Amino acid sequence: MRKSWVIGNWKLNPDFERAKQLLQACCAEQMAPVACQVAYAVPMPYAVWATQSYPQHCIGVQDVSVMQDYGAYTGEVNAQLLHSCGVKLVLVGHSERRQCFADDVQKVQTKVKNALSAGLTVVYCVGESLAERELGQAENVVLGQIQDLIDVVSPQQWQQVVIAYEPIWAIGTGQTASAEDAQCMHASIRQYLQKNQIESEKIAILYGGSVKAENASQFSQCPDVDGALVGGASLDAQSFQAIINAFA
Ligand code: PGA
Repeated sequence: MRKSWVIGNWKLNPDFERAKQLLQACCAEQMAPVACQVAYAVPMPYAVWATQSYPQHCIGVQDVSVMQDYGAYTGEVNAQLLHSCGVKLVLVGHSERRQCFADDVQKVQTKVKNALSAGLTVVYCVGESLAERELGQAENVVLGQIQDLIDVVSPQQWQQVVIAYEPIWAIGTGQTASAEDAQCMHASIRQYLQKNQIESEKIAILYGGSVKAENASQFSQCPDVDGALVGGASLDAQSFQAIINAFA
């Protein structure tokens, strides 16, 4: 009914020489077709090289401008420009951008709208902090972020949306949510979408936060976990492939 996805989030890594080797190694691993959509959210300057070198692969980036139109906006890269480069997907709402780069709700919603209208797939990231989880607020926080998404996506655009649940305390820490906690949050997200008349059975909800080759299969067994958004482990072709295999 819905596709599984495994998406590598390279963040601010690595330099161009190593990036070329990494993407080549990843694409070589995927010579055989896998029953899973694989994508790479690469650093922005590598996007054109990546889309032109590997046109049959799904290349994404990690951010997009709030500016919808072309114009005198020094330093900005908008969704239309990315689409014209062959970029297929963009991460929006990642906690690192929300926390370190002042991506507030309004900016996140603008980025979602612009990316969807330009024809990009949006990987919309949600997740609670450790303090929020300890206060019993995890579900409220996450469903609030889902409501922000619902407020800006039109009915026809949901097919371009992938959701990633990434508890902030699990990102880059080596600590993951338990499979039960992940399943529980994913099921709540799906129910909330359904209550809002969105065909949630068709929407992929990925887990992210220290997903590794060693723990991927515990998440792939959860009925509502449809894949993974992978940071650190996506920088090693073999580890990344092992995660793909767990979800394929
Ligand atoms: P991590 O990052 O796998 O290194 O925890 C995940 C993410 O931030 O998307």
